[in-house]
Amino acid sequence: MQPIYQLVYASKANINLGTTGINPEVSRILLKSKSNNAKRMIGGVLYYADGYFFQVLEGDPSSVKGLYQKIIQDNRHSDSTILIEGEIDRPQFSNWSMHFVASDSGIRQLLQDNGYKQFSPFKMSVPQIQGLIAVLSNNGVYERTDSRKIGLSKKVKSFFFKHKTA
Ligand SMILES: Cc1cc2nc3c(=O)[nH]c(=O)nc-3n(C[C@H](O)[C@H](O)[C@H](O)COP(=O)(O)O)c2cc1C
Repeated sequence: MQPIYQLVYASKANINLGTTGINPEVSRILLKSKSNNAKRMIGGVLYYADGYFFQVLEGDPSSVKGLYQKIIQDNRHSDSTILIEGEIDRPQFSNWSMHFVASDSGIRQLLQDNGYKQFSPFKMSVPQIQGLIAVLSNNGVYERTDSRKIGLSKKVKSFFFKHKTA
């Protein structure tokens, strides 16, 4: 099997998407990403909160690096910074597509448990980022060590499922 390459980056949004990112511009990015990424066999997730994008791209190394070079030229965001990059044993996101997880209670709670009042991806440590990726790959549901599960609110769920690939 081909190695799976994972690239995780964060950037500052140049468009006003409010706190949650539930916005038509995000839908446009997602529509484009879903069709392009399926063709290139790239999977992953896009998360937005508090003015920052956070994206995980997974797939063939050259496809992932090529797509990242294209994405960083997009003027809807700036200051793109790679947070984690390298080969992984198996993909954390199963579909060759792009999921979107909106900012909501589960991830807010995870951030709060890590001492963040707001999403500050540039300040997060690698283990914290890995924890965030685990929650994102669990559809935004945060399974706390005290075994309480904190999921998505109805509003965010419906947006998320609307943009989820079958
Ligand atoms: C935060 C962010 C994430 C993006 N993610 C993707 C992506 O995963 N795949 C993709 O094809 N385009 C993505 N885009 C859009 C690209 O920058 C670019 O507009 C698009 O790929 C152009 O596609 P086209 O050449 O088919 O017109 C993203 C843009 C932003 C701002």
